[in-house]
Amino acid sequence: MDPKRVKELPFSEHSVFFYGDDAPSSNIQFVNQLKDILDTRKMAEDNYSIGGEVLELESIMAKKLGKEACVFFPTGTLANHVAIRQLGLPKTRALVPQQSHIYQDSGDSVQQLSGINLVPLGGSNPYFDLPELKEAVASSMNGRVVNPVGVVVIETPVRRCFGRSMPYEKMLDVTEYCREQGIATHLDGARLFIASAFTNIPLKKYSALFDTVYISMWKYFRAPYGAILAGSKEFCENLFHVRRTFGGSLPSSSLSAALALKGLEKFETDAQSAVSQSKELIELLSRIPNLQVNRYEDESNIIPIEFSSNVNLQNLERNLRANGVFINPETSGQNTVHFTINMTILRKSNQELLRTFTDALETAVKS
Ligand SMILES: Cc1ncc(COP(=O)(O)O)c(C=O)c1O
Repeated sequence: MDPKRVKELPFSEHSVFFYGDDAPSSNIQFVNQLKDILDTRKMAEDNYSIGGEVLELESIMAKKLGKEACVFFPTGTLANHVAIRQLGLPKTRALVPQQSHIYQDSGDSVQQLSGINLVPLGGSNPYFDLPELKEAVASSMNGRVVNPVGVVVIETPVRRCFGRSMPYEKMLDVTEYCREQGIATHLDGARLFIASAFTNIPLKKYSALFDTVYISMWKYFRAPYGAILAGSKEFCENLFHVRRTFGGSLPSSSLSAALALKGLEKFETDAQSAVSQSKELIELLSRIPNLQVNRYEDESNIIPIEFSSNVNLQNLERNLRANGVFINPETSGQNTVHFTINMTILRKSNQELLRTFTDALETAVKS
């Protein structure tokens, strides 16, 4: 097929995406899903993000995470910020992973709007370890000016590091130490649901380690926006005032909350199926010539697949796309494609995916 035409090939509800958190979303999809919900039940109204579908979502998420309460936020960026602010103040120093969203992708909002200094740890690694943490805590107390740490943040899985996850034992060590030192802990678990399916560590087990946990509502549950911040009853009570201070109490959040509730209904069972299907698929792919499956020891749902130098990745991408399979051929010159497993893998059988890969690869091998 003419490559130009292939580029224009639209994706459909049968397309499989080996990148991103899900299939690309669209307004029409949200509207249709809302209609589907309204066909089966009433949608309860909220008042500036209080009550209605929002309340229902908050209580379901609290149960799933084993926390006493939850508060809905319009974005994860704000949920992380408010968690750090409320846990940390009046102490004005927080320790965060250098590769985290809050440090790299939030425009220094915590520093600027809450006056809390974020000290990055871990360098280019996805997470820091206990000795590094101890050193940072000690220097905050023994430095020229005493400036104690109020909160320690962990992100897992780490988006900037191909979904690599801090191993549970390391998290346990770090959070236990923080507890002994009287330092609060927050987990940016935007993608914790998918990570938990892959690591087989229950959500509640992760969440029990932390004072507060944030989970994204739009990455995996097909809501257009939204985040949940979970914590103790005392922490969450009246938190809507702080949310409002930051302009985060959106009216009509029930629309997004209802979609998140719908997405949540099936997510955990679908995720189990996606895990087993992807394990089998990776095993089948590893037997194909011209590619090698590599793994991160601390992986969640992203697997690096290295292609031989005679494979033209642009051709491979085009050939796959023509059959409704999408990969991200951006490899920074390494010929390694990172395959992200999301729920779209369930749209095709492994037999079909294997056939598609085998055929696409054959044509993509440079002669
Ligand atoms: C790990 C992580 N934390 C927080 C966020 C922020 O979420 P939001 O876009 O809802 O502000 C993101 C978004 O990409 C993220 O990947």
